[in-house]
Amino acid sequence: MRTVITGTGIGIPKNVVVNDALAKIMDTSDEWIRTRSGVEQRRYADPGEGSAELGMKAAEAALAAAKRTTADIDAVIFATMTPNYYFPGNGPVLQAKMGFGEIPTFDIRQQCSGFVYGLDLADSLIRSGKYNRILLIGADVHTPLMPWQLGWDIVLGLEEREITPEEYAVNTKYRDRTVLFGDGAGAVVIERSENGTRGFEAFKLFTNGSNIEALYMKGGTAQRPWVRSEQVDEGYLIPVMEGRQVFKEAVSRMPESVRAVCKEAGVEVEQIDVLLIHQANLRIVEGVAKQLGMPPEKVPHNIEKYANTTAGTLPILFHECLADGRIKPGMLVCFTALGSGLHWGAALYRV
Ligand code: UT7
Repeated sequence: MRTVITGTGIGIPKNVVVNDALAKIMDTSDEWIRTRSGVEQRRYADPGEGSAELGMKAAEAALAAAKRTTADIDAVIFATMTPNYYFPGNGPVLQAKMGFGEIPTFDIRQQCSGFVYGLDLADSLIRSGKYNRILLIGADVHTPLMPWQLGWDIVLGLEEREITPEEYAVNTKYRDRTVLFGDGAGAVVIERSENGTRGFEAFKLFTNGSNIEALYMKGGTAQRPWVRSEQVDEGYLIPVMEGRQVFKEAVSRMPESVRAVCKEAGVEVEQIDVLLIHQANLRIVEGVAKQLGMPPEKVPHNIEKYANTTAGTLPILFHECLADGRIKPGMLVCFTALGSGLHWGAALYRV
């Protein structure tokens, strides 16, 4: 018995924001963003459009591709670090709005590694015999976390006004993070299959929480009260990222986990046909590929279009590669990610 992906879908917001639009509201440039990260544009969700809404769009497309309806699904796993509500998670939102039966929904975090963790969880739950079909969603909406109220209108071209010096200074303070992220969602339907040649072959997941401050958001329930108005000014509700530290971890840990998952499955790294790497930075993607000796044609990327959509990057990239034929039946695909936690890992899948 194996578990296989029978349908994929994506949920991408309509607002395209190119680097030059961000340069209007902070001290940055298209050249800096492209050369340091590979990002050329990102998509921003509209107010009222949360990770649940983008996730639902992706989920509907994945169900249609799998030729399934909500009645066929036994459980939902929703991976996001930016749920619509502080609680509950997005699972119940999606359950009610999409009209699922009263099936269990699991809300998981794991940030940029959320999709890889979700794949392992889905595979394990199906293998346990409890469920036959699981819908897995990876979705994140970064715009609400960023100080976009300062210049949102200018970025989206809604208003022809000059940014004030105060707004410009605040936006510049967070430029190392804000330029890297975008909003987006991907979803897959995973099913039990008795055809032994396809499906997931192995997973390797890791966590090391000894340096949480490298990538985190300070606000939370250890604070009394958990939100005070001063915390907003002090940036407690804006993600903190030590970019260089995370970069170094990413280019060493992801190759390690790819090697580990190959060892687990008894295959050589060279046998991987397509390596899908979490889209955080094109330089990280190239660095991981180089460490593993993978030629660029085996390592697709789309960070230039969407920036870093956290739990959304891998299912979006997988969907696009299937759609345009870069991933074909029979190929061995490896998913790998690293993100806040730190959590990281890899999954090996025979299409
Ligand atoms: O999904 C997982 C989470 N995130 C990641 O994996 C991100 C990992 N890290 C990175 O991708 C990179 O470290 C960054 C893209 C965040 C930064 O690239 P870097 O090459 O490490 O640059 P840096 O942080 O060393 O900054 C270099 C310079 C600094 O100026 P000085 O001190 O040299 O004068 C920054 O202030 O670039 C400046 N800078 C910017 N300039 C223009 C930082 N952000 C910007 C910006 N525009 N947006």
